Amino acid sequence: MKRTDGNLNFWGVIKLLALPMKYQIAKALSAQITAQLCQLGQAFSLAWIVRELLRFYYYSPGSSEKLDLSFGVICFVLFSLVELVSRYLSGTFISTLQSNIKTLILEKSFSKLMTHSNDYFTSKSTGKITSGISGLPKEMSNLIDIMFMDMIPSITIALIAAIGLAFVSPIISVVLLVWFFLFQGVGIYCAVIRVPLHSNSSKMRGEAFGNIMNVVECQQSTRQASKVEYERLRLGKILDVWDRENMLYSFSSETARVYQSLFVTLFKIIMIAMLSGLLMVGWIAASEFFLAYLVINIVIRNVQSSVDRLVDLFRIHSRIQNSIATIFFESEIPNTGTINDFSPNHIHLQMKDVSFTYTGTTERLFEDLNLAFKSGERVAIVGSSGSGKSSLMKILVRTNDVSSGAITMNDTPIKDLTIDNLNTLISVVPQNPSLFNRTIMDNLKIGNADATFEDIIEATKKANCYDFIMSLPKQFDNEIGEKGSSLSGGQAQRLSIARALLKDAPIMIFDEATSSLDSISETNIQSAISRISKDKLVLVISHRLSTIKDFDRILVMEKGKIIEQGNHDDLIGRESVYHSMWNAAV
Ligand SMILES: Nc1ncnc2c1ncn2[C@@H]1O[C@H](COP(=O)(O)OP(=O)(O)OP(=O)(O)O)[C@@H](O)[C@H]1O
Ligand SMILES: [Mg+2]
Repeated sequence: MKRTDGNLNFWGVIKLLALPMKYQIAKALSAQITAQLCQLGQAFSLAWIVRELLRFYYYSPGSSEKLDLSFGVICFVLFSLVELVSRYLSGTFISTLQSNIKTLILEKSFSKLMTHSNDYFTSKSTGKITSGISGLPKEMSNLIDIMFMDMIPSITIALIAAIGLAFVSPIISVVLLVWFFLFQGVGIYCAVIRVPLHSNSSKMRGEAFGNIMNVVECQQSTRQASKVEYERLRLGKILDVWDRENMLYSFSSETARVYQSLFVTLFKIIMIAMLSGLLMVGWIAASEFFLAYLVINIVIRNVQSSVDRLVDLFRIHSRIQNSIATIFFESEIPNTGTINDFSPNHIHLQMKDVSFTYTGTTERLFEDLNLAFKSGERVAIVGSSGSGKSSLMKILVRTNDVSSGAITMNDTPIKDLTIDNLNTLISVVPQNPSLFNRTIMDNLKIGNADATFEDIIEATKKANCYDFIMSLPKQFDNEIGEKGSSLSGGQAQRLSIARALLKDAPIMIFDEATSSLDSISETNIQSAISRISKDKLVLVISHRLSTIKDFDRILVMEKGKIIEQGNHDDLIGRESVYHSMWNAAV
């Protein structure tokens, strides 16, 4: 898929989400940092208590001064309480942030998805699109979890501890900082070398699930062709590779963990040795030894857990990037038109020197195609399968864009109209109707949300589907199942036609919209179409020539070219491809 400058990368998406959430992020950050400060505050309070105890019992025994630990105890209790409250608040803020980000990213992904072309949806499996769109909210939530619960706390605590310890012993502070950066570096190195192992494992995971989804989608043909066992074996091979990749990854994780633990142990030994040395030479007091030890342990605990999650961080980053690559790239159908109030009474539609090649193919389907249609005309397009009839419709409604040349309406290029404006002008009944898993009424109202019940009855009568709807148990409130699965092919087509009639657009396109109907229903619908088409432009693609016999103009298409055009009598009256098609049909 073509990627251009308007694409969003990882940071682009983070910015897109972070900006509207900046206050929530700030609140969660402050609560987390407060909690970390409180942890260190507790260590300082404990060290203060120890210093007082030592002073009282060891350095001034028998002194008349009373032992007063209240300051240290109060500080400790206060720090503990504030830490508790901060943790509670940060938990709440982080959960709210996660939930809001999930909603926001879903909304953004959905809007972005809806800008993509037909080719995008046909070239990608439903499984890939679904996992892209469902992966983003989940991984964003995981990212927030890691950042706020591990990464940010570990960095802040290490820096604050280093600053605090600098007052006790600058050398300890420097060693702590050096260790912190070294440990992070080693952690990042270990994570980076494990990332390819992890992506191999996730690739196989994707392949396994993609394969299952694909077979599920084609389950009927799989079973009919007795290929269930073949598919099971095929899946088994994929699962074996996935298993092997998983094992490699787990082994590398355990090895990394061992190295990291050794690194921590070594650091602890060095620190204790250094602190003992400083204590012995009298550079630090016993209470400072105790304080440094406590603080270092707090830092180690936090840093270790954050380094443990570095691989998760890289993993999440790569999953988010994959989802972004699936969804957030510039649409091949740029919605850059600015005209949104184009609604002329009479439309003059022209295709000027139009050439068109499908993305991913090299052969031009249309080359320098010139055509003109106007309101009030009924034009039929006929031709052999694969000749380009549906593709012609696709470029008219901009589900695909022309490679060169222009399509204009009353001399305004359709590219200058917003996609929404263009859609209000054209109503399409496609070859395979797309119906929602909702009620009949909901499906009809997609055509026109403001249609009255009378309008709906009239459209369903014209589309010859009123009787069958009334025969259903819940009539207009009947659910029609996934992609209209509870309807016959012809019923689904009639519903789709009624929907288009309700939309009442000035240009109506029927792409083999009646191919599943019996000839009586088809004739009824065709006469309804003829009646509504008085001031509309009606384009009909049909293989059944008898239904378009009375049309004003018939275009015969072959390999992307209009090889003949005229009305039925013109074409039948001479040696033409249409003539032979007609003879073959009757
Ligand atoms: N999304 C696509 N990507 C690449 N090639 C495509 C795509 N859709 C159609 N084609 C190719 O374009 C050519 C014209 O297809 P089109 O669907 O326009 O034919 P048609 O005349 O409508 O055929 P039919 O009568 O069978 O519906 C065919 O060779 C087809 O394989
Ligand atoms: Mg077609």
